[in-house]
Amino acid sequence: MKKILIALKDKDESIKINNFLEDNHYSVNIINDPSMLMNIISTKEYNIIILDFQFIEMLELNLIKFLNERYKNINVIIVTTKEAVDKIINLTRETNFNYVTYPINLNEIKFLIDSTEEISRKPPPDEFFKEKFIGKSEKIKKILNTIQKISKSDSNVLITGETGTGKELIARIIYETSSRANNAFVAVNSAAIPENLLESELFGYKKGAFTGANTDKKGLIELADNGTLFLDEIGDLSLNLQSKLLRVIEYGELRRLGDEVLRKVSIRVIAATNQDLFKLIKEKKFREDLFFRLNVIHIHIPPLRERREDIPLLIRFFMEKYNKEYERNIIGIDTRAKGILMNYDYPGNVRELDNIIQHAFIMAETDIIRFEDLPIYLQNISPFRRLTQHEQIQDNNQLEREFLLSDLEKQTIIKAFERFGSNHTKVAKALGISRSTLWRKMKEYDIKI
Ligand SMILES: Nc1ncnc2c1ncn2[C@@H]1O[C@H](COP(=O)(O)OP(=O)(O)O)[C@@H](O)[C@H]1O
Ligand SMILES: [Mg+2]
Repeated sequence: MKKILIALKDKDESIKINNFLEDNHYSVNIINDPSMLMNIISTKEYNIIILDFQFIEMLELNLIKFLNERYKNINVIIVTTKEAVDKIINLTRETNFNYVTYPINLNEIKFLIDSTEEISRKPPPDEFFKEKFIGKSEKIKKILNTIQKISKSDSNVLITGETGTGKELIARIIYETSSRANNAFVAVNSAAIPENLLESELFGYKKGAFTGANTDKKGLIELADNGTLFLDEIGDLSLNLQSKLLRVIEYGELRRLGDEVLRKVSIRVIAATNQDLFKLIKEKKFREDLFFRLNVIHIHIPPLRERREDIPLLIRFFMEKYNKEYERNIIGIDTRAKGILMNYDYPGNVRELDNIIQHAFIMAETDIIRFEDLPIYLQNISPFRRLTQHEQIQDNNQLEREFLLSDLEKQTIIKAFERFGSNHTKVAKALGISRSTLWRKMKEYDIKI
């Protein structure tokens, strides 16, 4: 019998999976506290760990590598949110562990568990990694051409462009087509991590280097050894870290915090920024020598409003994406909505267009995206005309429709009680939720039996 450990923060989800797996005759344990993980896996022999991505983030960064190297007979299924998928793709790729996304599909979990024996650590399908940069404008064609040309080169790359123009996507494509594609791609956002933390994250540390440094730890640069380091928002890197990074690039050497030992690393740096580095150099906020080291190859991605011919292609691309994701079959977009999307300036660039289409999918009732399905802020800036009163009223109706969703849930719970009497266990099971979730929802909707 396979022994399974559920290590998830969410108790309700844990119980739901636990009940399902026990019904299917697996032996299951649950922990909800990350600090218990190391202890429990060293004392009991598990075959499978269903592991929360949050645990990975809260524990050592290299938890997955550790599990992979140390516990050869443990298979890991990582549970993550859709937004965080790209963070774990490399992890699962290096280890051949599997992952699932919220909301958890119990049958998918069962399938993965059942298939671990025969196809142990099967690599995930290729299509996950086939990044595609959509666009047919001359500007994009040029960029794609450059990428193709540099696929044999190992030079550092600097990618500039406004936020949401696809800098990270381009970085991943360059990596995928490079000779380092089989090694790690480590992405670091310099703006998202506070300076003092960033230093230890990047360079690692020796045990005792500062309070809280309880073990030796590799930094992200070392984790990217032989692979590619993607440094996002490079313009936000402090001068101190800039000079340390320069050393790594110039000499291929690095020293962990509090350590004497010089370690050799081979990394390719792809840096990105939405800032004007020349201006930062003039203001002495960015080192010119580092700039020249990074800027061996320069790719600038123009904002979407400067290449409007790409908009229809991108709309179609995102419609395909959300048709798959939401199991819809939306075939098009009405002329008025299209007119707006073609004329809008997109300060958030492609990321914003993606969000707009996603919003429209949620709102659309038919198989056509209509003007009314666009976010309100777009309806108001309409280059054609303002909303008529009639249309505004329609919009309020749409808001009400969203609220009705909870009504639906309430009615479903009441129906289940009518069907199964007051047996909470049966009702919870029929609804596919834990008893505590059922209890919470009954309170929320004020359902009394
Ligand atoms: N040309 C493109 N084709 C397909 N998707 C794109 C394109 N440009 C951007 N995206 C998508 O838009 C989002 C934002 O891109 P990202 O690379 O994160 O931008 P940046 O790093 O410049 O802020 C991502 O989901 C990305 O996949
Ligand atoms: Mg980015």
